[in-house]
Amino acid sequence: MVDRNGWGRGRDDPIGARRRPPPAFVERANAADAERYEAFEENWPDCWERAAALLAWDRAYDTVLEDEDAPFYRWFTGGELNASYNCLDRHLEAGRKNHAAIRWGGKQGESRTYTYRELYVEVNEFAAALRDLGVGEDDVVTLYLPMIPELPVAMLACARIGAPHSVVFAGFSADALATRMNAADSEYLVTCDGYYRRGDAFNQKSKADNARLAVDQGVRTVVVDRLGKELPHVVGDDECDYDAVRDAHAGETVDPVSRDAEDMLFLMYTSGTTGQPKGVVHTTGGYLAYAAWTSHAVLDVKPEDTYWCAADIGWITGHTYIVYGPLALGTTTMMYEGTPDYPDRDRLWELLERNAVDVFYTAPTAIRAFTKWGSQYPERHDLSSLRLLGTVGEPINPRAWEWYHKHVGGGTCPVVDTWWQTETGGVVVSTLPGIDDMKPGAAGPPLPGIDARVVDAAGDEVEAGDAGYLTLQKPWPGMARTLYDGDDRFLDEYWRRFSDPEDDRWVYFSGDAARIDDDGYVTVLGRVDDVITVSGHRLSTMEIESAILDAGGVAEAAVVASTTGAGDGEIYAYVSLERDVDPADAIREAIVSRVERAIGPIARPEEVVFTPELPKTRSGKIMRRLLEDVTNGQELGDTSALRNPEIVGELRATIRGE
Ligand code: WT7
Repeated sequence: MVDRNGWGRGRDDPIGARRRPPPAFVERANAADAERYEAFEENWPDCWERAAALLAWDRAYDTVLEDEDAPFYRWFTGGELNASYNCLDRHLEAGRKNHAAIRWGGKQGESRTYTYRELYVEVNEFAAALRDLGVGEDDVVTLYLPMIPELPVAMLACARIGAPHSVVFAGFSADALATRMNAADSEYLVTCDGYYRRGDAFNQKSKADNARLAVDQGVRTVVVDRLGKELPHVVGDDECDYDAVRDAHAGETVDPVSRDAEDMLFLMYTSGTTGQPKGVVHTTGGYLAYAAWTSHAVLDVKPEDTYWCAADIGWITGHTYIVYGPLALGTTTMMYEGTPDYPDRDRLWELLERNAVDVFYTAPTAIRAFTKWGSQYPERHDLSSLRLLGTVGEPINPRAWEWYHKHVGGGTCPVVDTWWQTETGGVVVSTLPGIDDMKPGAAGPPLPGIDARVVDAAGDEVEAGDAGYLTLQKPWPGMARTLYDGDDRFLDEYWRRFSDPEDDRWVYFSGDAARIDDDGYVTVLGRVDDVITVSGHRLSTMEIESAILDAGGVAEAAVVASTTGAGDGEIYAYVSLERDVDPADAIREAIVSRVERAIGPIARPEEVVFTPELPKTRSGKIMRRLLEDVTNGQELGDTSALRNPEIVGELRATIRGE
């Protein structure tokens, strides 16, 4: 049934059929040489010079990879470079100053374009302003901004002066911001007065103000005026206005600081299995080279493209594939402040059409929403400028893949399903769109130079087709170097489980379960730890549960995310109350608002299900896996370990009744 020579097959395709990359794409693809896989293998780790060669270095590196201190690998050692120089100055020097760097679409329908020259000017002025505020090399600057151009400007300004940034997702709460600023000892904050959410002005500064009350160190704050008269705000004594500090440094330039390849470019907090978020450390040389390389080889980004990654810069996807990767390659990167269905469900396609976007990259959860709304929306628009589509964040089911391929890609754009994580810095598993067949539902083979293997609990490789733990067994330039919270936690979280230090064998554990078929394609099955994925964002069950426990009257809580059906990615909270406390709407509301306050609306439970008990093992461990089965209406897994099996039946009945 699989037609190996067919491509862009017609209406009658069986769902999930394998497809060849279309010849029209292959002809122009950045990576079209199938020998590349072997070349990387034979020449590893020097193959990674190809990635480094996409950058401009102030000082050439001496060694590609130093592994004496594994798993604290060091890449391109001895090399020096500046990320902001690589994303800006060198494009001006190459005569591309008037080329569009950022095209921004605002929530109210506004748009702004920054040429490379304009972006360069603003970054320089803000870099001068940050210096003036006292920011020195290696000082962590926290950026708490929505999707407005000042966010990438601030990131590049930090990079220019060698100050690592820590971007905190704008939708996070004051508590979440304070935790991250404290963990990073960050003394500088860039935020804004507010922003629009679905048409309403929303106060961001009050969250930042509240956070600062809970930050131990003194903080200097810069406030961007996003809303003007819409939301008047007061700039306090220890604060300054973004435009005012830029004006004070109008026309100034700041020499980009030469950073060691291994110097930290940024910190990105992500959820772990404990309540304390993990500060993932990324470097200037390896990360940037990897961001540029994967943007080039996987997303096929070309300088003349208009490229759109519809993520939020508050997550790693936006760091790597809205800011650093595309700007390092000198392309035009789109930034969209709004949601795809506001003011209407045409908005996204309208923007795509108006900007003649070449490459579009989004998450399966968005694609599933599009499928629900219907194909009439994309079909009303001319999307013929598209050459390539991508997805990231969760497994994509073949039906959603097919819809995306057909209704957005017109049946002719290849789709790359890219598996990676905050810690990997960039894509590590995906087809190369000009070389490999696509197999809907499977991400693809590991990229050239990447050694992905699925192992059992003992760390031994499993048979092809069997499920197990997804590991990476060779280092790669974009990998996290450590956690800001300490090397020991880094070892604990990722390396201790499957490595054999005696044998100097280092195995990175991703936290995901997966299967690798005979053809070498990896199918990602989901997280194995207590981390859930909501709208493509990683949240810790612990963090949410501890917020619920704070609601008062709550004895125990367990949260899971639904993974099937219409409510995909919704959070279900199973809650048992203290004795004498009645399950009332007031408690439900208290729970929801507690979670919103502690983490943000993104973690809001869709359903709060009261139960006299949670399903537990004899040793007292809550069996989340069973709750997942209940939530998703699936056959229950093994219940033999349960102390209270009857409770699962009751919960099933409750969920079905709802
Ligand atoms: C987790 C990482 C990488 C940027 C977005 C999230 C899941 C990611 C895929 C994919 C199946 C995927 C994994 C991974 N994930 N991409 N293509 N197929 N699952 O970054 O917050 O660090 O989350 O997202 O579970 O471990 P993150």
